[in-house]
Amino acid sequence: MSAGEDYLRAYETPRFAQLAPNLNAACFSLMKLMPARFMVDRAEASGRLKRGGHIIETTSGTFGLAIAMLAATRGYALTLVTASSLIDLKLKRRLEQLGAKVIAIDDPQGDGNQRGRLEYLHKTLQNNPDTYWPRQYDSPENRLAYARLADLVVRSLGRVDCLVGCVGTGGSLCGTGGFLRELFPDLRMIAVDTHRSMLFGQPVGRRILRGLGNSVLPDNVRHEMIDDIHWVGALPAYAMAHGLFRDHGLFMGPTSGAAALVGAWFARQNPEASTVVIMPDEGHRHSDTVYNPDWLAGLKDWPISLEPTVLKRIHPAEETAWTRFPWDRRTLSGVLAEFDGSSPAERQV
Ligand SMILES: Cc1ncc(COP(=O)(O)O)c(C=O)c1O
Repeated sequence: MSAGEDYLRAYETPRFAQLAPNLNAACFSLMKLMPARFMVDRAEASGRLKRGGHIIETTSGTFGLAIAMLAATRGYALTLVTASSLIDLKLKRRLEQLGAKVIAIDDPQGDGNQRGRLEYLHKTLQNNPDTYWPRQYDSPENRLAYARLADLVVRSLGRVDCLVGCVGTGGSLCGTGGFLRELFPDLRMIAVDTHRSMLFGQPVGRRILRGLGNSVLPDNVRHEMIDDIHWVGALPAYAMAHGLFRDHGLFMGPTSGAAALVGAWFARQNPEASTVVIMPDEGHRHSDTVYNPDWLAGLKDWPISLEPTVLKRIHPAEETAWTRFPWDRRTLSGVLAEFDGSSPAERQV
């Protein structure tokens, strides 16, 4: 392992912050380094990734940054396929400085155009069959990587009764929760998504809060593990991110704000339970937006929900809203069939 690699391993390790007597957060600088390093290690060991080889992945940001850091330190070529709506110029520059080729597919509907990205990726794989595709959406290795987080949580905090995490690929929440449930069978798992993401049965549309949610359904989202689902709009997530900075000195990204909002609510309702929240990245990438008063100017005075509204049927809401649905470890098809007879495929773009 080179010195650069040593550093990346330290970088993938979260710090634990106590937000309330019964609420702790695993605060990552860049959570996606954990699955990226695990997957690249396994691909090297199994011969799927050869010395000096080529890696391709579809990503909305942080997994791309993680894999670009690894590719640069280990000497691989890297192509990242993203959407025009997801990639900002600053991140693109950082990725390119690390040697990555960044392909931004048009995204006229603002839903991430995952289908267009996958089409491009498959065409590239057809022409370059030796290329390694980590498949963060569907490879079980994404979830397996979080055995390390489960181990760190138990060593640092002991018993856990409730785990709260955002869902994009599903790897972090379902992976960590799966391992924790081996030790704590009664563990509650609460998923945090955003309005107009299709992961838990909402019709797909333009999402404002980015980094979580999806317009396709990854295999790593294991619905039958989830007790409760919360959809947090952009504004409550931003407000909570500001609160984390103000009250705890934690400068985190907006998805961490969304997860902390839900975690703090659950911890208030359940003072005897020990709750852990996964906070995936820092706020620096969002300093021009979420932490910029000028950018926020038009949004600041909107009334923001401080409590989730319990939904009887699943439907999208405004960006000021925070909604909740008792999922009760059901399958997605089961829940959708119960309410409107549609199948997950019919809701997929
Ligand atoms: C900032 C951020 N938060 C949350 C998530 C969701 O994590 P996961 O993909 O493990 O479900 C992601 C995923 O890319 C992310 O980048």
